[in-house]
Amino acid sequence: MSGYPDVRLRRLRRTEAIRRLVAETALSPSELVCPLFVIHGRGVKNEIESMPGIYQFSVDLLTQEARDVAALGIKAVILFGIPESKDDVGSGAYDPDGVVQQAIHVIKESPSDLAVITDVCLCEYTSHGHCGVVADGEVDNDRTLELLARTALSHAEAGADIVAPSAMMDGRVAAIRAALDAAGHETTPIMAYSAKYASAFYGPFRDAAESAPQFGDRRSYQMDPPNAREALREVEQDIAEGADMVMVKPALAYLDVIRRVRDRFDHPLAAYNVSGEYSMVKAAAARGWLDERRTVTEILTAVKRAGADIIITYHAREAAGWLGGKGG
Ligand code: PBG
Repeated sequence: MSGYPDVRLRRLRRTEAIRRLVAETALSPSELVCPLFVIHGRGVKNEIESMPGIYQFSVDLLTQEARDVAALGIKAVILFGIPESKDDVGSGAYDPDGVVQQAIHVIKESPSDLAVITDVCLCEYTSHGHCGVVADGEVDNDRTLELLARTALSHAEAGADIVAPSAMMDGRVAAIRAALDAAGHETTPIMAYSAKYASAFYGPFRDAAESAPQFGDRRSYQMDPPNAREALREVEQDIAEGADMVMVKPALAYLDVIRRVRDRFDHPLAAYNVSGEYSMVKAAAARGWLDERRTVTEILTAVKRAGADIIITYHAREAAGWLGGKGG
């Protein structure tokens, strides 16, 4: 009984019920994280042109937004802020009354029970659009650490449940852990964007967060796409510095990296299904070239099959709706 005609693998594919019974991977809304862009002002809901269905919201609209997201079974949001003004040192990032800090307060006061994750970076807040302090035309790693630590601390003070450093500076996890612990936030977890690649797939996000670098690019700090072993070194460093969860970003072009991190480490692993991955599907679906629901379900299932426990995705709301409905 080792081969055809005794073995017929098609037997277990005959009906939808049988296929679901033997499915090796299943998605649930509770493992999806919904990104939210927060902007100053009141009553503002700006759709992002390159990301149909995704908006910049002013803080006053977040109570309703949090309620809607939670009602779908989603357990967490990740916040990105667009400040009113930018400067050389990204002061808006660690302003106790900054747009993200206000947003944290509002969501934590809403009756939603959502976990609030915050992106800890300076690029949305610096006039030059880089993720750190620029000195002599370069991003100065060690001077940036202090500002990232201040930013993470201000998020924790505002009530953030998890801080997620994304700036790809060496030593940032240790700097943030030390600052949090010194201020009595030893229970706040760090989700490190450990293997974050310098990717063209971030294009639409930079429209949404108004954070495109004004000169140069991010290749001196974000990872080079050809490298996978180096991703394991990044993850290893972040874990050694105290990361509670690690991340691979983007997701779809880096499924091999997700799998390698999963096989080597036991920390919870997040994958970021980034803006460009979302916009490609939206654009093709709008033209009738792809079935959006099937495409998104297949992508998210593949990211999970590769080994991710948590998926950050702009499709979170739609996917959670589909999952709670008639099934994929
Ligand atoms: C940095 C940050 C970026 C993204 C998440 N955090 C942008 C970048 O590094 O240029 C990209 C997310 C996406 O493309 O969806 N604050």
